[in-house]
Amino acid sequence: MVTGCSGFIGTHLARRLLNDGFHVIGYDMNKSSIADPNFEFIQGDILDMEKLQKSMDGCESVFHLAAQTSVPKSTSDPFHDFKTNAEGVFNVLLAAKEQGAKVIYTSTSTVYGLADMPTNESQTLKPISFYGASKAAGDLYCFAFHHTFGLDTAILRLYNVYGPGNSKGVMYDLFKKLERDPSHLEVIGTGLQRKDYVYIDDVIDALLVAYERGVSGEAYNVGNGVSTTVNDVVRIILDVLQLRPEITYTGQSWKGDVESAQADISKFKSLGWHPKVSIEDGIRRTYEWLKD
Ligand SMILES: NC(=O)c1ccc[n+]([C@@H]2O[C@H](COP(=O)([O-])OP(=O)(O)OC[C@H]3O[C@@H](n4cnc5c(N)ncnc54)[C@H](O)[C@@H]3O)[C@@H](O)[C@H]2O)c1
Repeated sequence: MVTGCSGFIGTHLARRLLNDGFHVIGYDMNKSSIADPNFEFIQGDILDMEKLQKSMDGCESVFHLAAQTSVPKSTSDPFHDFKTNAEGVFNVLLAAKEQGAKVIYTSTSTVYGLADMPTNESQTLKPISFYGASKAAGDLYCFAFHHTFGLDTAILRLYNVYGPGNSKGVMYDLFKKLERDPSHLEVIGTGLQRKDYVYIDDVIDALLVAYERGVSGEAYNVGNGVSTTVNDVVRIILDVLQLRPEITYTGQSWKGDVESAQADISKFKSLGWHPKVSIEDGIRRTYEWLKD
């Protein structure tokens, strides 16, 4: 089962699993664009425990991706964020335990908050946003289900995932603004925020490596291991588009934004995964998708 199969990462993951010959049950509140004889879509809410349990019947593994995924929305409606992310992951783990299915959970780098960099998995979780806190609850429940019931779990702490199909995030924002007005670009924040951008195909590889070799109740960082400033992202995008607009900065990021992030990815590398796509290449591929 892939929960959140209609979202950015879920769509890529479900497609890859189908290509690899799996039978996939997709579970999401929103409709899916996937049509495949081996794909069974169930429109449902992870907070609807009865439906979730029934839908999971016969599943061997669950990739749990469904979530409220916006930091600003978690600030404006923390209760909804809590229900979807904290109660939601609890429901999925409980249903998986009854089913005897393993769980691969997509956590996030925001669980660390303002951590030392490069950040390794043993850093204390000190989220600075409601989103970070509700996702961190998932990490903790994965540990607890593993240690209490022996449930096979893997926690993947994803950094900034980008690529075709992502209609949110800094790259999409910059490309769209330049499409509207190629002569002027407004950058949110100072441009000096540093993030660890990881390309979607590398993330899908990571989810499959976790499924095959990583369900021993551990957490793993999934980033590029490189910290890139927003100004660098702007420079690469402008090179791809061959534009030289006037650039202005809002000066302030949104509340709860972690302005500096860089993953230490050595732990997950030891399972045989490593990121393959450079940011220059990834941005070019993202642009090709946007053009289409
Ligand atoms: N995209 C990133 O950069 C990134 C970074 C770190 C972690 N993650 C994590 O990866 C996962 C997938 O992220 P994404 O970018 O694909 O997000 P997304 O917002 O594109 O997709 C989330 C999906 O979850 C579904 N959903 C939300 N609430 C639901 C509910 N109550 N019941 C059923 N379905 C529900 C939505 O309909 C949506 O299709 C999330 O768990 C997110 O926290 C993403």
